[in-house]
Amino acid sequence: MIANDTIHTIITRRSTRSFTDEQIKEDELQSVLEAGLYAPSAINQQAWHFTVIQNKELLNWLNEHAKETAKTFDNEHIRAMAHNEKLHIFYGAPTVILVSGKEDATSIESDCAAANQNMLLAAESIGLGSCWVNLILFLFQHPDAKKYMQELGIPAGYRPICSVALGYKKVNTVNTPARKPNRINYIR
Ligand SMILES: Cc1cc2nc3c(=O)[nH]c(=O)nc-3n(C[C@H](O)[C@H](O)[C@H](O)COP(=O)(O)O)c2cc1C
Repeated sequence: MIANDTIHTIITRRSTRSFTDEQIKEDELQSVLEAGLYAPSAINQQAWHFTVIQNKELLNWLNEHAKETAKTFDNEHIRAMAHNEKLHIFYGAPTVILVSGKEDATSIESDCAAANQNMLLAAESIGLGSCWVNLILFLFQHPDAKKYMQELGIPAGYRPICSVALGYKKVNTVNTPARKPNRINYIR
C-alpha cells in the first residue's frame, strides 16, 4: 500500500468529542473553509452555504433548542439522547460550521457531505479536532425553523444538511473502530 500524508490523515482522523475553550486561529478557520469550498459537487453547482458560528451563547442556544425539539420525537433513542443533560451536541467546540444546501440543486446532500468531509480532513491535517454533527438538524424540525434559519443568515432557498464542530482537542482519540470486513468486491 502507498503511504503519504493525505492517506495518513484520512486513516488517522477520528471524531473529537472533547474540546478546549480556546478559539481556533483565523488562518486555521479560513484553511478549513477553503477545503470545504473545493469539494466536488454535482455538475459543479457548488450548491452549498457555510454558516460559521463562533458565539458561545448562540452555540449553547442551538444545543438546548435542538435537544428540546428532539424530546418531542417518536424515536426512543433520539428522546433518550435529548434528555441526556450531560450531552452538549457540539461537545464544547468553540467553532461550528453549518453547511446548508440549495434546495433546487441536483444533489445537495452529497455536495454538502463532500464539503463537510473535506473540512474534517483539512482540520485533522492542521492539528484541529473535529466532529461531524447532524444532531443540530433537529432544530430545523421545529415549527419556528424558518425564523431560526433567517436569524442564522442562511439564504432563502437553502436548508441545513450537516455541520462540523471544530476546535483544539482536549483528549486525543486514538481508538479506531475496527473496519467491517467484506465491504469490497472486485470485478476485473
Ligand atoms: C452523517 C453523519 C452524522 C453524524 N452525526 C453525528 C452527531 O450528531 N454527533 C456525533 O457525535 N457524531 C456524529 N457523527 C460522527 C460519527 O458518529 C463517527 O464518524 C463514527 O462514529 C465513526 O467514528 P470516527 O469519526 O472517529 O471514525 C456523524 C457522522 C456522519 C457521517
